[in-house]
Amino acid sequence: MSHKNTPETVAQVPDAELIRWKTNAWQDPNMVAWYSGRMLENTGTNYLKNAIETDIIQRFVSGRDVIDIGTGTGRAALPLLQQGYRLTGIDSSQAMLNETRRLAGEAPITLKVGDILNLPCAAASFDSAVALNVMVHFPNWREALAEWQRVVRPGGRILFDIHSKDHVHAAYGEDREQWPQALQQTNDPADFANYMARLDTRELIEHADAAGLTVLAVVPYGAIFGGGNVNWLLYEQLERSHKWKRVLSWFASDPALLELGLFIEQQLIGQLSPCVAGRVFVVLENRADPQANKRFAEHTAAIDAALGQRSFSALQPWLKLSLADCASELRRLLQPLRARQFFFSLFDVLLDQQPDYKFDGLLLPDVLEQLLTWRALRQADTRAMAIAKGWSAACPSRTMHGVDVSQGSAYFLLESLLTEYFGVFSGERA
Ligand SMILES: C[S@@+](CC[C@H](N)C(=O)[O-])C[C@H]1O[C@@H](n2cnc3c(N)ncnc32)[C@H](O)[C@@H]1O
Repeated sequence: MSHKNTPETVAQVPDAELIRWKTNAWQDPNMVAWYSGRMLENTGTNYLKNAIETDIIQRFVSGRDVIDIGTGTGRAALPLLQQGYRLTGIDSSQAMLNETRRLAGEAPITLKVGDILNLPCAAASFDSAVALNVMVHFPNWREALAEWQRVVRPGGRILFDIHSKDHVHAAYGEDREQWPQALQQTNDPADFANYMARLDTRELIEHADAAGLTVLAVVPYGAIFGGGNVNWLLYEQLERSHKWKRVLSWFASDPALLELGLFIEQQLIGQLSPCVAGRVFVVLENRADPQANKRFAEHTAAIDAALGQRSFSALQPWLKLSLADCASELRRLLQPLRARQFFFSLFDVLLDQQPDYKFDGLLLPDVLEQLLTWRALRQADTRAMAIAKGWSAACPSRTMHGVDVSQGSAYFLLESLLTEYFGVFSGERA
């Protein structure tokens, strides 16, 4: 089946050109070195992303014989190899395979050059097919899935990650004219470097029904990764700001923040629907079960309806933890100040977007009270700054001898306003 029939495709450039470009990008040894080093350097949220992705793979992989498609430097394959799975890694780049061979050392792994659309493997020769960070690059996901299904045994599994169209629609609707420029770029197959493949639950289920596959799980993740994994629900308020990027950079060196990030991603985001995050891990089983697919669609729709209720407790049926456990675990995780500050950014934006959102069950009363106090202070700062900037700009004698003497005065005005008008400034100057 060709993706060209889908209404979402806006290709002016033939997809073959995009696919060739995406494939060739990884032949460059500099690219290999950069990619391989990225996880070791653990900058920003890379470590969090890797931990979540490899955990999902290990939870859902089944059987013993596993093919890692687009294995790259073995990020999915090598941890599975260590756990005793029998691994075959396929990649179009010999340079990537050389790096995996080096990292694998003496461990037995079969590595072959091959294309994701034409795997050098017999039909039904694997229990599971895994493709990590591969499908996101390709617009022809249906074609790729058909080839991956060919090499998986009946009842075996196919695991891959891709970007979520449901999430984009939840943030900006379906009218592309309303999307920010940065989002339009990622959807344009003519923009090779920025393009990202996306699918939605409906398309996935339609394909699964037609191809004789069962949708076992769609796990959303990447709500707080930044970089190429934009959370479009946070785009206007956080994702575009340098402050947010700086906060995300702390993840590389702050274990407490990392623990909070894992909790948010795995216990909250990962239990919900593809609306909540930009990326999803799809788990399919190679057997036809249209009834199970229908139940899966209903399950996703029920979570979306619960999200619309604007109350955390409405999500309880889909969480693994009880509300009480969620709240006490979160209180523990929010003890370190940086972690609390990070969480506050999310809390503040959520309340900006949904002022009546009820955190019942997620936040214990003392935690909620502190976050609400911070929010009131942040709002006072924002309002006072707007007033102060307006006053200093409107000052009738701003310039003396050609020098703008109002420069910086907004900050002094801000302090006076906060203290005397809002009554909230408690900072003392040394
Ligand atoms: C982003 S990397 C992901 C590597 C690895 N799976 C990971 O998650 O770290 C994409 C990989 O897909 C490979 N690739 C790109 N186009 C391909 C194609 N047409 N057939 C097979 N592999 C391809 C690249 O060489 C590269 O190793």
